[in-house]
Amino acid sequence: MSRSIDLAVIPGDGIGQEVVAQGLKVLNAVLPQDVKLETKEYDLGAQRWHRTGDTLPDAELEALRNHDAILLGAIGDPSVPSGVLERGLLLKLRFAFDHFINLRPSKLFPNTATPLAGRPDIDFVVVREGTEGPYTGNGGSLRTGTPAEVATEVSLNTAYGVERVVRDAFERAAARPRKKLTLVHKNNVLVYAGHLWKNTFDRVAAEYPQVSTDYLHVDAATIFFVTQPERFDVIVTDNLFGDILTDLAAAVTGGIGLAASGNINPTGAFPSMFEPVHGSAPDIAGQGKADPTATILSVALLLRHLGYDTEATRIEDAVSADLAERDGAATRTTDEIGDALAVRVAS
Ligand code: NAI
Ligand code: MG
Repeated sequence: MSRSIDLAVIPGDGIGQEVVAQGLKVLNAVLPQDVKLETKEYDLGAQRWHRTGDTLPDAELEALRNHDAILLGAIGDPSVPSGVLERGLLLKLRFAFDHFINLRPSKLFPNTATPLAGRPDIDFVVVREGTEGPYTGNGGSLRTGTPAEVATEVSLNTAYGVERVVRDAFERAAARPRKKLTLVHKNNVLVYAGHLWKNTFDRVAAEYPQVSTDYLHVDAATIFFVTQPERFDVIVTDNLFGDILTDLAAAVTGGIGLAASGNINPTGAFPSMFEPVHGSAPDIAGQGKADPTATILSVALLLRHLGYDTEATRIEDAVSADLAERDGAATRTTDEIGDALAVRVAS
């Protein structure tokens, strides 16, 4: 295992700046002395765009490519037209670095609020396809802005793209205690893409007899996320369904302040990128109110991806312990939560 981490850091906009500082604080605290951590910060996001018109210049994309991993805060600001930074920066990174796994764990930690009755046992991982589906920009519009406007947004699904995410999900399921994998799609209506997914899933399943499998249409999956979330272990699904399902998953497991994610290239050909699921929260930015836990849990995913399992588990245990002692009425600042977690992981 390499004993150095060369990390690119993109704090981005709004609370991104505040939560990334805490993520780095905890990362520094958890790493053993002999691991050398180098960080390089990239000035990308709304302010940069206003100043220079750049979203992600090629030279910076090239430079980013040489790091071991990327830690990102959040991108987006009401002063920038919708889509400019999402497509020009976030999606550009995910596509350029072939982040075909979008990994989003969902766990209901002790003492956290859930809107679900009876505190179900929730501990599942969504493996969302990250480079295909309706997110490839394969579409256009005709007669735009007129009453006769026509718009298309084509969902792209390749045998190669589906198989690699399905295989990754089987590997992840096989490595977990319950060894259960659920495919979520809508193959009764989206028959072409749906059958490619289902046939690929069934074919790969034959190589993993130890993993039990299940299929759900996405609409039924939303019901079970609320009524029976304990039935899930690992879920594999397409880009759009995964985007929507994981917001629902965050909502039933204590909210957006806790939801972590990884945009992963498992082959190691490009650096993987780890970020909280939430955005830049302009409504609370600069006030020290943001919960940095989602970012700190994203740091744990980053460490596990780089092979630092012990350190990743230490962060997750620290978060669990911190949440167990949180008093719903007392409010701590972003910095105070970061300090508390840094102390816990160091001891
Ligand atoms: P948001 O996630 O930024 O905020 C939604 C609500 O959750 C707000 O009330 C906010 O205060 C709260 N919230 C979010 N993170 C929190 C945290 N760590 N602690 C406590 N409360 C938190 O989503 P919104 O408002 O839809 O988007 C704001 C901007 O962020 C937009 O420009 C959007 O495009 C961008 N965005 C960027 C993402 C990214 O960088 N990956 C993901 C989602 C949105
Ligand atoms: Mg989303």
